[in-house]
Amino acid sequence: MARSGANCSASTASQSGNASWPRTLVPPLRPRRSRRGGAGGPQATRLQATAHHIPSRLVGTGSSVPQQTLTNRDLEKLVETSDDWISSRTGIRERRVMTPGQNLTEFATEASRRALEMAGVVPEEVDLILLATSSPDDSFGGACLVQGALGATNAAAFDVTAACSGFVVGMITAHNYIQSGQFKTVLVIGADAMSRLVDWTDRNTCILFGDGAGAAVLQAGEENASVDGKKVGVLGYKLRSRGADNGKLTTCYMSGELQSASTASEGAFKIGQGAYESLHMNGSEVFKFAVRAVPEILTAAAENAGVEMADVDHFVLHQANQRILDAASDRLGVDKDKVASNLARYGNTSAASIPLALDETVRAGKVQPGHLIGMAGFGAGLTWGGVFVRWG
Ligand code: UT7
Repeated sequence: MARSGANCSASTASQSGNASWPRTLVPPLRPRRSRRGGAGGPQATRLQATAHHIPSRLVGTGSSVPQQTLTNRDLEKLVETSDDWISSRTGIRERRVMTPGQNLTEFATEASRRALEMAGVVPEEVDLILLATSSPDDSFGGACLVQGALGATNAAAFDVTAACSGFVVGMITAHNYIQSGQFKTVLVIGADAMSRLVDWTDRNTCILFGDGAGAAVLQAGEENASVDGKKVGVLGYKLRSRGADNGKLTTCYMSGELQSASTASEGAFKIGQGAYESLHMNGSEVFKFAVRAVPEILTAAAENAGVEMADVDHFVLHQANQRILDAASDRLGVDKDKVASNLARYGNTSAASIPLALDETVRAGKVQPGHLIGMAGFGAGLTWGGVFVRWG
């Protein structure tokens, strides 16, 4: 098979997470209505489309990562690098990587089970499953695999592809479905097996990434639900994209061509058949983009949400580089202690990084009812997005 240039550049140029969680943090849900036996099935539980003030409450989180740990010292044996270079430039000390034979669905499913358990929701109650990923087990989509594994038989399921911004895009998509009254309970998963996408001989990129999964349950709450007079659930968001800079971070499809062959009829035919190449990144360009994008998108999302940056209790940002987290908190003028960081242990897990960090923050007991959480993702596309949620 002959391969030619990349097709995709728009540029003209388990050891799983802690299973216990502080139940008292999550306010009780409304009594469930049975799905089964009703005349309308899932349709019967749909909310009225006219209800515009339905809060999308964040009621559960979960995560799961592979057991195998790859340290910076391990990577010294693969590529010309050092523990000192990696940890001082990125903050990463180790990452989790799937072993051959493991698949992403099992980690996405385990993370989902934990989120559902925290939410007190059984799989049959889930109306919609959104899987944010760039590395599904089936390129037709991984969400249905999770749906099947969970037994979420009443749920529609589809993938969201927005690289490292995928979880935030998924949250916002879920929120809009809930607000429109179409769905009541939505499971949003961010999961990636970046070990599948990186070139393990490229020291510029392979040292950065790891595998993992995180999940969150969003559920329609009572109209005007609040804690201490403050509205809960998703309060506001902002999404942006810049396709002109797509070439800065890609896993492109490379054109190829099957050997021409003569047909029984006249002439020859040509069939394009290539393959996806490994991840390519212009690290310094993406770095510069990220340090501007995070404060910009959070500022815009805060305005849409009607909240002040000073009132945010927790920032859960895409975990790409500790220097990006530090620069973002400096530019926003917020306390670094409020910015979640698990880079040292997991590296960059792409779509999984925000829900993984969110779940750790919740399970550590740091998130109290009424707390305001700001999340921001950024990455390939280029895409970036921010969302504010009040827990409760
Ligand atoms: O999730 C998607 C979003 N991704 C990101 O946000 C990643 C953003 N970018 C970054 O985090 C940083 O740009 C990197 C960590 C990727 C790179 O850090 P940097 O400080 O921008 O380093 P650099 O690329 O400018 O490279 C500096 C030097 C170069 O050598 P010379 O040309 O100065 O001699 C590189 O060849 O470091 C060299 N280098 C390495 N050395 C040891 C690059 N990678 C390595 C390595 N080990 N792994």
